[in-house]
Amino acid sequence: MRDEQPFRLAVLISGRGSNLQALIDAVRSGQLRARIECAIADRKAYGLQRAAAAGIPSFQLKRDEQISENIHRWLAGRVDLIVLAGFLSILSAEFCKKWVGKVINLHPALLPQYGGKGFYGKRVHRAVIENGEKESGATVHYVTAGVDKGEIIAQQRLRLSPGESPDSLQQKIQRIEHPLLVGAIQKLMAERGARIVG
Ligand code: GRF
Repeated sequence: MRDEQPFRLAVLISGRGSNLQALIDAVRSGQLRARIECAIADRKAYGLQRAAAAGIPSFQLKRDEQISENIHRWLAGRVDLIVLAGFLSILSAEFCKKWVGKVINLHPALLPQYGGKGFYGKRVHRAVIENGEKESGATVHYVTAGVDKGEIIAQQRLRLSPGESPDSLQQKIQRIEHPLLVGAIQKLMAERGARIVG
């Protein structure tokens, strides 16, 4: 019966996959009672090696117009939640509609500010610093067709230090992202009453 199955995750990445690693570690330690079914990248990504090292099926998809459709084909019926953890391709509106409430994204700023097309990686941190913000942070939110516009699930703020650089801010934010992402998934699982086997 469905109730006895583990909560199944797919993690989509484009880069080093430190958040994927945080999820792998959280599953391993029992902190997150879920199963990572697969990791998918849209380019050559170091994170795929992390998945392979953990024995998680992982593969790279071509970055073309069909990518959303291909992801759907791979994952439909196989996972309960898709986690975008540093995934840079934009999923189609059709995909977002089919998967509504089942895709979450991690963004390195306090949405709704500093989000949308073009706000990724260090560009986000540069803009935050240039605007003289005192705070930034990280956000986990649902994915909808409007880029970075979906409902916020969890957010964590931090204060900028004097002389903060995009690099130092990125490092600080990455440290808070890992527990934030794990906590957001735990929260969703609890809301859905996911019952998990060990
Ligand atoms: C994270 O900072 C996340 O906020 C952003 O992409 C980065 C991914 O880092 N969306 P990693 O690949 O998980 O190390």
